[in-house]
Amino acid sequence: MKIVGIQSSPRGKNSNTLKLLDAALNGAAEAGAEIEAIDVAKLKIKYCTACNSCHETGVCSIKDDYNVVLEKLLGADGIIWSSPNYITNVTAQLKTLFDRSPLVIHEQLFEGKYSLSLTTAGSGEVDFVLNIMNNFMTHCGGNVIGGIGCAVAQGPSAMETAIEKSHEMGKDLVEAIKEKRQEAVHEAWRERFKYVTLPIKTTGHTIAITESKAESSDALARR
Ligand SMILES: Cc1cc2nc3c(=O)[nH]c(=O)nc-3n(C[C@H](O)[C@H](O)[C@H](O)COP(=O)(O)O)c2cc1C
Repeated sequence: MKIVGIQSSPRGKNSNTLKLLDAALNGAAEAGAEIEAIDVAKLKIKYCTACNSCHETGVCSIKDDYNVVLEKLLGADGIIWSSPNYITNVTAQLKTLFDRSPLVIHEQLFEGKYSLSLTTAGSGEVDFVLNIMNNFMTHCGGNVIGGIGCAVAQGPSAMETAIEKSHEMGKDLVEAIKEKRQEAVHEAWRERFKYVTLPIKTTGHTIAITESKAESSDALARR
């Protein structure tokens, strides 16, 4: 079982949010998963240009590190999304990754995968930021088991508690995958969305990210 953690703070090793991500990934590893962290703030991922190529051909027209990240995510059983609160939102680095993913939503490519989300903030609105990440996963057809947020202004003990909870939720992510845990909200979304995916499936294009893989295969080596 593979769990991929997405880090998106530009503060690298000094990131508060990374502490939660490390704890969750360690929890998942203790529960038996193979883990990998990807720092999207260190990758080159350009803005979506709304060219519509992904819908027409199944391939994004932009050749950059997005394709490498997508391939990793498609190969994962579980995804841990993480971002600090930036102006009551995720960082631009993570939002850019989301914006490059309309194909993942329209073809429900995360169906069968599971996720949790993590955030830290200066003062608050952590639930709002967690919902942005969790909604993205649901919209991609995936299952969400929950999220952990911490306002660092509450002091070191709040952070310690959040680290502990992230560790436990990382373990639970592995259990959810093993159990194939399902929530009604995910079923309801997929039912509603099948009227979008069915016409796409009948037009017959399938994703072909491997075509663009070669051009960005060194992306993760540059981390
Ligand atoms: C550009 C920027 C915007 C921020 N916006 C908010 C905000 O709207 N609300 C808040 O509570 N904290 C905000 N913060 C504080 C960060 O969310 C907080 O320091 C967080 O722990 C940083 O996480 P990191 O160390 O993982 O980067 C902001 C910080 C920066 C640099």
